Amino acid sequence: MIAQVRGSRPVTDVCSRLYLKHVATMEKYISVKDLENVALSMLSKSTGDYYKSGATDEQSLAENRDAFKRLRIRPKCLVGVGNSCLNTTVLGQKVSMPIGIAPSAMQRMAHPDGELANVRAAQAEGTIYTLSTIATSSIEEVSEAAPNAIKWFQLYIYNDREVTKNLVLRAEKAGFKAIALTVDTPLFGIRRADIRNNFTLPSHLRLANFDGHLSTKIQKAEGGGSGLSKYVENLFDKNLKWNDIKWLKSITNLPIVAKGIMRADDAIEAVQAGCSGILVSNHGARQLDGTPATIEVLPEIVEAVKSYNVEVYLDGGVTTGTDVYKALALGARMVFVGRPALWGLTVGGQAGVQKMLQILRTELQFTVQIAGTPTISDIKRDMVCHESVYSKL
Ligand code: FNR
Ligand code: LAC
Repeated sequence: MIAQVRGSRPVTDVCSRLYLKHVATMEKYISVKDLENVALSMLSKSTGDYYKSGATDEQSLAENRDAFKRLRIRPKCLVGVGNSCLNTTVLGQKVSMPIGIAPSAMQRMAHPDGELANVRAAQAEGTIYTLSTIATSSIEEVSEAAPNAIKWFQLYIYNDREVTKNLVLRAEKAGFKAIALTVDTPLFGIRRADIRNNFTLPSHLRLANFDGHLSTKIQKAEGGGSGLSKYVENLFDKNLKWNDIKWLKSITNLPIVAKGIMRADDAIEAVQAGCSGILVSNHGARQLDGTPATIEVLPEIVEAVKSYNVEVYLDGGVTTGTDVYKALALGARMVFVGRPALWGLTVGGQAGVQKMLQILRTELQFTVQIAGTPTISDIKRDMVCHESVYSKL
């Protein structure tokens, strides 16, 4: 690992020496939960609450995790697992493992290098980084920071279509490989902590993708409440329909991934509208409480689109290698993690995000070998079953 970092930065540089020291201090973290605990002790209350919250009672937030625990892995023995490998491809791009980074807004609240540290970590680990529309580093800054990373751009469609078009064209020009169109956010979900904290973007930071186009600040909500929620209410297009994907396709040649699908019929709509990927997601349970966990709806969506040439991915509640494994067995080609990247970023910038990715990589590597499915394509549906299969015992 350190050799990899040495390879990408000159070790004579003072910054790099500090960086390597930092990488070494990361060794004490051995689970994503370790990183979460430390991150939450470092962040301000307002930022920590914003990152960790789910919608209203947070039932679905807990379900996203608990549903993984209701699945059981059925290991096979003596199949020979010496030649194990986690490589796979996503939309034709090679990735070193089926674990990528989901978009999350305003990452400079976690660490001064924000999105730049995060994308560099994805580049070093050979996986996908998804940049949020509401980022504190611009499309161009991110592209320059990690020219060789596989980058996706997460798109929110604004009422102002010229502003939206500008984002898409810039992402395409900057070498991003896909547009992840978020389809589950006509409004923001109700996040009680953000309301109590009058949450807004700290004044020293800016929404970097809008320089010269739109306000780069998020105003405090008049009369209190979440300023970010008001921002979304005022600026996002609430009237989006499946038909609008035609418009998006008319302005870009990039493949489109529909992010936020939770129903088989919507997955079919997305495919028919021309999407190349379906990201099964409930937005980290931040939008609507009472939804199923994402891992619960994954099988019906995989089944619904199996005759189409489309890839299915999942995010929501993934914090261990066995979670990743279960999602792959149920038909996901790739999983994405949102909060875990924010915890890594808070704790150690680039090194922290790399540490988080390495923890998941190691856990997945152990899982595939001990389960007797040494490569990704060996992981078939019958490797996992629901706990109820054993409930009569
Ligand atoms: C998000 N998510 C998100 N999604 C999106 O499409 N655009 C965005 O800007 C954001 N911002 C954002 C901020 C924060 C703080 C979180 C926690 C999440 C949702 C994200 O992409 C992803 O769907 C979930 O985070 C996945 O769940 P886990 O991995 O956090 O459990
Ligand atoms: C969130 C956004 C920005 O969930 O999508 O906070």
